[in-house]
Amino acid sequence: MSATLEAKIPAPPDIRARKGGVPLVMLTAYTTPVARLVDRHCDMVLVGDSVGMVLHGLPSTLGVTMEMMILHGRAVARGIERAMMVVDMPFGAYEEGPEQAFRNAARLMAETGAAAVKLEGGAHMAPTIAFLVARGVPVMAHVGLTPQAVHALGGYRVQGRGADGERIRRDAEAVAAAGAFAVVLEKLPEALAREITAAIAIPTIGIGASAACDGQVLVVDDMLGLFTGFRPKFVKRYAELGAAAEEAIAAYAAEVRARRFPAAEHVFSAEAPGA
Ligand code: KIV
Repeated sequence: MSATLEAKIPAPPDIRARKGGVPLVMLTAYTTPVARLVDRHCDMVLVGDSVGMVLHGLPSTLGVTMEMMILHGRAVARGIERAMMVVDMPFGAYEEGPEQAFRNAARLMAETGAAAVKLEGGAHMAPTIAFLVARGVPVMAHVGLTPQAVHALGGYRVQGRGADGERIRRDAEAVAAAGAFAVVLEKLPEALAREITAAIAIPTIGIGASAACDGQVLVVDDMLGLFTGFRPKFVKRYAELGAAAEEAIAAYAAEVRARRFPAAEHVFSAEAPGA
């Protein structure tokens, strides 16, 4: 067992208490087998709405539904024994107001077993975060580049450069003051991520926001080289599983066409039952 991991599943207050300590580790997962792998090494597993792009081939996260999040959340829960599970609230499931957000957050938690939900948005979402937290829903916030606002932001651009940094700083302070137990900082300049991390009392989890954050998150298919739709600068490829899988599939196809597969060891004989 790694010295950095807890023996029991951490709860949101345990994650919050890790501010400034050993960096928090989070990866996404959408299926049971991947959740099992991630669970052994991470503090938190995020059932991200990136599932829409990564597994369902959607052009953005906007088409992701509550039903998709519940289906994948349940699958991930079956693979988890030690990490804390966080489920993303999909676009359209919380923006109307605190009551709508509570109804859908409660459904996500009750039907998946997640310990917390994540939602996108800064100062304008603070009243909703406070409403959820007061009713027993732990919230991970997400500021900076918020992919559900891709059209409003004009693309997946770096946020908070120059004078715009003040807006992001205020967003982070607002979600922390509203009671979020942690906040994802996406695609921010390093200096701004460092400033925000020093200024707020909850852990910052960076994605494209430098090692100055209190933890890191990546989309698991990105870092494994399985999702090749596009490759942001902040993604480090720790493996090239997509290329390895394609090589294996090509070898299978060639062997089938050449009648080299199945070979003798894959064939059942009439004489040896059970073999
Ligand atoms: O949906 C997702 O995977 C995310 C992470 C990239 C932070 O929100």
